[in-house]
Amino acid sequence: MTTPTTVLPTLKLADTDPADLTVDAIVIGVHSQEGEGADLLLASGAESIAAAFDGKLTATLALLGATGAAGEVTKVATMGTIAAPVLVAVGLGAEPTGAAPAAETLRRSAAAAIRSLAGTKTVALALPLSDDTEDSGSHALRAVTEGAALGAYRFTGYKGKPQPNRKDPVETVSVLVPDAWEEAAQGELRRAGVVTSAVARTRDWVNTPANMLRPPGFAEEISEAASKAGLDVEVLDEVALAKGNYGGILAVGMGSEARPRLVRLTYSPPGGGEGASPHVGSTPTKKLALIGKGITFDTGGVSIKPAQGMWEMKSDMSGAAAVASVMIALSELKPLVQVSAYIPIAENMLSGSAYRPGDVVTMRNGKKVEVLNTDAEGRMILGDAIARACEDNPDYLIETSTLTGGQVIALGKKIAGVMGAEELCARAKAAGESVGEPTWPMPLPEEIRKSMESDVADILQVSAGMERAGHMLQGGVFLREFVTEGLPWVHIDIAGPSFHSGEPTGYWSKGGTGVPVRTLLALVDDIASNG
Ligand code: BES
Ligand code: MN
Ligand code: ZN
Repeated sequence: MTTPTTVLPTLKLADTDPADLTVDAIVIGVHSQEGEGADLLLASGAESIAAAFDGKLTATLALLGATGAAGEVTKVATMGTIAAPVLVAVGLGAEPTGAAPAAETLRRSAAAAIRSLAGTKTVALALPLSDDTEDSGSHALRAVTEGAALGAYRFTGYKGKPQPNRKDPVETVSVLVPDAWEEAAQGELRRAGVVTSAVARTRDWVNTPANMLRPPGFAEEISEAASKAGLDVEVLDEVALAKGNYGGILAVGMGSEARPRLVRLTYSPPGGGEGASPHVGSTPTKKLALIGKGITFDTGGVSIKPAQGMWEMKSDMSGAAAVASVMIALSELKPLVQVSAYIPIAENMLSGSAYRPGDVVTMRNGKKVEVLNTDAEGRMILGDAIARACEDNPDYLIETSTLTGGQVIALGKKIAGVMGAEELCARAKAAGESVGEPTWPMPLPEEIRKSMESDVADILQVSAGMERAGHMLQGGVFLREFVTEGLPWVHIDIAGPSFHSGEPTGYWSKGGTGVPVRTLLALVDDIASNG
């Protein structure tokens, strides 16, 4: 394994009084408030701290400039008022109209507080968590635990000298919650550990430079981690790919001396091996196919990309990294659903053996594609992987990829595009919303398919004349050609949200974000419980 593995802080639950805790710092929440005089409001969880400050806490915080804006961090030296030497007030935005702040606000604020405390070792979070973890409370606990772990993520990189100004991330986070020892709360704690490790693993893979993660090595790392997790693993190398007529994966991959791979992973639920059909109530266990684009580097190929920003194309395997990490998480979360992953991996390079514009490529399902632009490589490897997935007769097919720059133009860097069968798109959107990974549905218009008629083959790879209008939709329309008629499917274009280029914000650091790991896990949960 050459990819560095980032270790996240150890999470614990406790029901101790925060004023008595001997940790390096305590985090409380503060809301902004409309109206004169009272512009700050302490969130629940901070009661005993407020008492220790003798009623002067909000005034002190206001004096230090606190406004309660979401994610704002204000630090106070406690000077013996409470056991911990530092108090951090993190903004939670306006006082919520319902019982609790939105889960996403808690997730981001917990992360901001933990990031601001880099350099300290032990932190306790006294944030508003109701004592009813059965319903809305469990979402709050889930959000705070996830945010706390993810906020500490940092890819430490490859610097030779030790960095004196770099403070180490927080090591241990205690989340204070009234029913800390109940099974529901402990279950959330375990889940947060698994989910945030999956996000961190995805980020590590995405952040690893392309010279250190080439197709055979990436396939090897995935199969190693997956075997360790107890998943079934199959890896097709370039010889097996040729034998299996994977024309799309080979066309893209053969331009690089690091040959392409197709990795298949299978998770079977407890008590139900392949082919078995255990029942949950009256719902038979569903079978899912997950597919993720694994271009370890995208130069564009012969249709080469401009140099500016090309380095970010080391993230063109974000879909593959997310899908592989989700599979490993499933081995621990054990949902009652069968899931197979199909992960095509290739490096899109230029060389004497690279594919060219004008080539006609025969895909796994026999369809012939006329290539117009070697930079539209994602759909070439995904068409094969989707066709292969359909051969296993799944009930649902979910694919995710950094497919088009058009997604970024249309929806920006935060919102992914979803295309496919209407109902499954709606479920993917709901799943994303529930975890703070927003998506928006996009159409697959007939006129786009018409613009992809080829004179010499079954379909053009992009619209005729490389017409850029409806760029993202062209990708979706092309992928649809490889999905079995009538099979519910969804394509999630994550070109923007998979990689964060700006300064750290919320639980995102610079680089890979781990999107859409938590969406996929929520969607798997939805299908496991509702069919
Ligand atoms: N990997 C890119 C898409 C991408 C762009 C991801 C920006 C993340 C950020 C993809 O392979 C690509 O090059 N798409 C082309 C498609 C075109 C040639 C039809 C694009 O978006 O320009
Ligand atoms: Mn490309
Ligand atoms: Zn690409």
